[in-house]
Amino acid sequence: MDITNIKTFFFSPTGTSKKIVQAIAEGKQTSQTISHIDLTYPNHPTDISVGGNELAIIAVPVYAGRIAPLAKKRLQNISGNNSPTILVVLYGNREFEDALIELKDLVTAQAFNVVAACAFIGEHSFSSADMPISPGRPDTNDLKIATEFGAKVMQQLATTQVSQPIDVPGDTPYRDGMKNLPFTPKIDSGLCTQCGECIAACPAGAISLNVEIQILTDSCTFCCACIKACPEECISLTSTPMQEKAVWLNTNCKDQKKPQLFL
Ligand SMILES: Cc1cc2nc3c(=O)[nH]c(=O)nc-3n(C[C@H](O)[C@H](O)[C@H](O)COP(=O)(O)O)c2cc1C
Repeated sequence: MDITNIKTFFFSPTGTSKKIVQAIAEGKQTSQTISHIDLTYPNHPTDISVGGNELAIIAVPVYAGRIAPLAKKRLQNISGNNSPTILVVLYGNREFEDALIELKDLVTAQAFNVVAACAFIGEHSFSSADMPISPGRPDTNDLKIATEFGAKVMQQLATTQVSQPIDVPGDTPYRDGMKNLPFTPKIDSGLCTQCGECIAACPAGAISLNVEIQILTDSCTFCCACIKACPEECISLTSTPMQEKAVWLNTNCKDQKKPQLFL
């Protein structure tokens, strides 16, 4: 199979899925080109196609053992035109449960031909300096594993005419996913300078400036991109039930997991 271009698709509010998808694409052969398609923000590209001699690499985060709901929405309506595809899920060192099988089912129904898949670990979105959860992941070793995996898949594609779809772990029916939460991260308006970095970082378009910065409860997905983007560090999980979750994760998910590769 002669692959001339690699097209990555990613939804990555806190940047870890983006790092891994880029590292996998770096495993390309010298003559191949790479185009990155960022589906994270409300103004994401919509006129997208893949096909011909292209390889697709699709990366999304795991939320509650499923794929992040907004990622699922953004991937819909893209046709794979039978292109060979690598799937990537990023999770915060707890578990990825049914996310990979859900992603495979979703894109297979859209005519992507899943020839490889992987689950990598990213710093958990709820991680902070006080309550670290898989801090610094993906690290240098994760990125090396990702690039080597990309190179292996691309070598295999170069020597095969037709690639068979692969199996991935996970159960059907899928476990229950994220529900809408009746709260949002908290803003310390005394510290807020209204710089707007949080508005630009929000994948859901849930933050606006209306006298003060406000986060819309109905739209917030708790991805924590606003917390990481705020230069004044005035947005936090403090006094939300998610703070308890962060404490639980910090206590119970200390053993660092390894990337899992399926080829
Ligand atoms: C609402 C929410 C739910 C999450 N659920 C899980 C989970 O079930 N298992 C897990 O290990 N990590 C979970 N995470 C952590 C993310 O999967 C992890 O931080 C991932 O690296 C985020 O990807 P990104 O940096 O591309 O946004 C969750 C994060 C959020 C915001």
